[in-house]
Amino acid sequence: MGKAVDARLIVDGTEVPVSFVEARLGNDGLSMETLLKKTGLVNVDPGFMNTASCTSAITFIDGDEGILMYRGYPIEELAARSTFLETAHLLIYGELPTRDLLNSLENRVARHIQVHDGIKAFLNAFPRDAHPMSVLSGAVSALGAFYPESIGHEENEIELATVLLLAKTATVIAYLQRRAMGLDLIEPKKGGTDYVEEFLRLTFADSDGHCDLDPAVRQAMDLLLVLHADHEQNCSTSTVRMVGSSQASIYASIAAGVGALSGPLHGGANEATLRMFDDIIASGDTIERFVEKVKSKSDGARLMGFGHRVYKNFDPRCTVVKQATDQVLTALGLSSEVFDMAKRLEEIALHDEYFIERKLYPNVDFYSGLIYKAMGFPTPMFTPLFALGRIPGWIAHWREMVGDPTTKIGRPRQVYIGEAERSYVPIEERR
Ligand code: CMC
Repeated sequence: MGKAVDARLIVDGTEVPVSFVEARLGNDGLSMETLLKKTGLVNVDPGFMNTASCTSAITFIDGDEGILMYRGYPIEELAARSTFLETAHLLIYGELPTRDLLNSLENRVARHIQVHDGIKAFLNAFPRDAHPMSVLSGAVSALGAFYPESIGHEENEIELATVLLLAKTATVIAYLQRRAMGLDLIEPKKGGTDYVEEFLRLTFADSDGHCDLDPAVRQAMDLLLVLHADHEQNCSTSTVRMVGSSQASIYASIAAGVGALSGPLHGGANEATLRMFDDIIASGDTIERFVEKVKSKSDGARLMGFGHRVYKNFDPRCTVVKQATDQVLTALGLSSEVFDMAKRLEEIALHDEYFIERKLYPNVDFYSGLIYKAMGFPTPMFTPLFALGRIPGWIAHWREMVGDPTTKIGRPRQVYIGEAERSYVPIEERR
């Protein structure tokens, strides 16, 4: 817990009140809400390098120490002991559920796992080779059109939307993979309550619905969903909050979050990392030469799956995913040239001055593509799997935001650097 600091801001003799915002853990804040009113100046902070957009009680990260906690529980403990829906309950409602509460959530989700025929028709209208993140964003938005009784801000509507989003995105993502692979869609089991098992069955089963999965795959899927479930004010979550701040529906907000997640600097990095490994192999480059290319910045190449805005020591999720990748490969009796390559690349980068100086470490996406691949998912499905894991985090943040009486519509200022006023020139006179 920090101590109030003596902070003063005086601009041309005018004092701007600076108030102290105390954190339970981590960085305290300073607020200068009257800066514009008192001085006519705005605060400039591209990329929000040191701007807190809200107070939040959901997730805590200490980037210097490599700590990540959901509602106070360390990620390592949740990864080892919790299931995805239990973690979802923790994030959304603030506490680990009792057995009864967990059963109730599992049953409500299982009841809604089927999707409307209209949603199937909607998915079928997209090209089979469309990127699944584009389709997913559309499908999440469409849920609001199919279930209008859950688009508002009343408690019962928010509760229904929470369950529908958890249930139906799993089915939609499974269907996206089946369509891309030319497989028939299969019906979810009525009353099956194991969320992860049902998701994997819907994804991988034969057309009779039979699926013989290695328990290591089921366990890894649960673990990966838990690891991805929240990460405080990252780009997609901030997008969800920004869109939701206009009082748009939870579906519109999360659909926008899916769009933000798709970028290669964010969730799309898991796909980009695997493509990077494939490109290195295809080009016949050595890892050492590739690292030199990254360091020279000559063709803008980055070491994908490396670096993080907040973690400046290590990403605790990466440690868990790396270990799990090893376990899944061993359990399935697979060897992976790419996994060996990734470990060598990590070793080289961690001892290289360029990466040390900039505090660049492997992040969650460095190994997650490798484990998804070992589990049998095609590369374009990696980011939708990240999205499935992140659904509870987005829901929790949207709910926290709409329930916070201090929430205002998100509307940043700018510093205008364009043309000053000029007169319209008729087209004949332009050159
Ligand atoms: N490879 C090579 N150089 C890098 C990398 C990288 N992956 N990341 C940052 N740098 C360099 C960057 O060029 C800059 O160097 P200099 O000081 O010489 O200009 C310095 O490190 C600081 O980089 P930055 O871009 O200012 O840092 P940021 O906090 O704005 O960006 C990041 C964070 C995650 C976008 C960035 O590290 C990155 O592009 N990483 C690769 C993509 C990736 O793996 N993203 C997944 C992030 S974790 C999961 C998630 O959020 O979804």
